[in-house]
Amino acid sequence: MSELAFVAGATGYTGRAVVAALRRAGVETLAHVRPDSSALARWQAEFGALGATVDTTPWSVEALTRTFERTRPMSIFALLGTTRRRGAQDGGTYATVDYGLTAMLLAAAKAAGIAPRFVYLSSMGVGPGGRRDSYLEVRWRFEQELIASGVPYVIARPSFITGPDRDESRPMERVGARVGDAVLGLAGALGGRGLRDKYASTTAEILGGALVRLARSPAAANTIAEGSDLR
Ligand SMILES: NC(=O)c1ccc[n+]([C@@H]2O[C@H](COP(=O)([O-])OP(=O)(O)OC[C@H]3O[C@@H](n4cnc5c(N)ncnc54)[C@H](OP(=O)(O)O)[C@@H]3O)[C@@H](O)[C@H]2O)c1
Repeated sequence: MSELAFVAGATGYTGRAVVAALRRAGVETLAHVRPDSSALARWQAEFGALGATVDTTPWSVEALTRTFERTRPMSIFALLGTTRRRGAQDGGTYATVDYGLTAMLLAAAKAAGIAPRFVYLSSMGVGPGGRRDSYLEVRWRFEQELIASGVPYVIARPSFITGPDRDESRPMERVGARVGDAVLGLAGALGGRGLRDKYASTTAEILGGALVRLARSPAAANTIAEGSDLR
C-alpha cells in the first residue's frame, strides 16, 4: 500500500512546508484547502507543482469521514489556527478553528475506522488551567482528547515559528522571536543549551521537516515533541 498523508492547514506557513517536505520524502500528499478559499487556483498551481493533490472536502465530520474512508491516510497533519486579526475578517475563533476544526479531523479519523498517525501542531506553553477558549486552553483541551482517543499521535509544541519567507506580516511574533533568541543566545553561550533548544524560534522549513520525520518514525508514536526534537 502506498503511503499517503492528509494535510489540514496546508495553506499556512507551516502547512506549506509540511507539504513540501512530504513530497521531498516521496509521500503521496493530499493538501487540504477550504472549499470556499478565494485562492484555490493559486493552491492548485503551487501544490500541483510539488506533485501534491489539492483536496477540498467541506469542513464537516461526515464529509471528512468519507474522504478518510476513501483515501485511508497513514498520517493526518492538523496545522490549523486563526489569529485575532483573521478572525475579525472571517468570524473564526480559537474555539471554532484551532479546536473545532482539529476536533473534526480526529472525530472523522475515528469514524472512518483508520489508525493514522495524527500529528497535531500545538504550542510551547500549553498546560492545564488556562482561561476557557483561550489560545493555550483550546490546545491543552485538544491534546488531552487526542491522547485519550486511542488514535496514534505526535503532539508538537514549538516556540515561535517565523522567518523571512512568512508572507503574512506578524510584527509582534517577529519581535518576540528576535528578543527571545537574543536572550537565549546569551544563555547558550553561558551553558544553557537545553534552554536555548527548547525556546528558540524556528522556521517553517525546519519544523516541517521535523514533523514529517516524526510522522514516519515508529519511535515517535504517542510522544510529545518539543525543543531539539523539532529541529
Ligand atoms: N506562528 C507561531 O509562532 C506558532 C507557534 C506555535 C504554534 N503555532 C500554531 O501552529 C499552527 C499553525 O501555525 P502557522 O503559523 O503555520 O499558521 P498560519 O500560517 O496562520 O496558517 C493557518 C492555517 O489555518 C487555516 N485556517 C485559519 N482559519 C481558518 C478557518 N476559519 N477555516 C478553515 N481554515 C482556517 C488557514 O487556511 P487559509 O489559508 O484558508 O486561511 C491556514 O491553512 C497554529 O495553530 C498556530 O497557532 C504557531
